[in-house]
Amino acid sequence: MKSKIIVLLGIGLFVACSTPEKQGATKSKGWQPEMDQPSELASIMRVLHDEATERKGILETGEMAVANSQLIFKMITAKPTEPHMVGPAFEPHAQAFIASYGQLNTAENVQGQIEAHNNLVKSCVACHMNFCQGPIPRIEKLYVQ
Ligand code: HEC
Repeated sequence: MKSKIIVLLGIGLFVACSTPEKQGATKSKGWQPEMDQPSELASIMRVLHDEATERKGILETGEMAVANSQLIFKMITAKPTEPHMVGPAFEPHAQAFIASYGQLNTAENVQGQIEAHNNLVKSCVACHMNFCQGPIPRIEKLYVQ
């Protein structure tokens, strides 16, 4: 019976990077999200995730989306929840991401923008493989098929 509890705890740790919680803070997953202040980097990520979700919806209706977030440039210097969440390989990943992001606006038609969008999602996943694996299943839902 005890092993079940251990498995559940293990899952909790695995997704920690998607739901950062300060040590000593309440472990309750209940109501009051505003008490769980996200880091600067996590806030940027949430906005980028929402933006990509919205863009996916627009592309799926056959329209072009506008991509003009200035937040992408803040990613490199933004403070993460824990210092170990970023490292020497972080900046090259962020630069690759910024370059992919630029491709969204050079796309000339919807098909081109879908390709650029999917490449961007790939660069989200690439960085997350190194630094923050918890949200990867959520990020993979952003691909436009
Ligand atoms: C250069 C590396 C890098 C790139 C590129 C990147 N991420 Fe992240 N992401 C991180 C790190 C590191 C964290 C953990 C941040 C923290 O907890 O402070 C994170 C956190 C997140 C989170 C969890 C935020 C939260 O609520 O705690 C989501 C969702 C996310 N990223 C989605 C994305 C999406 C979508 C993209 C692409 C549009 C993306 N990320 C691109 C490194 C990256």
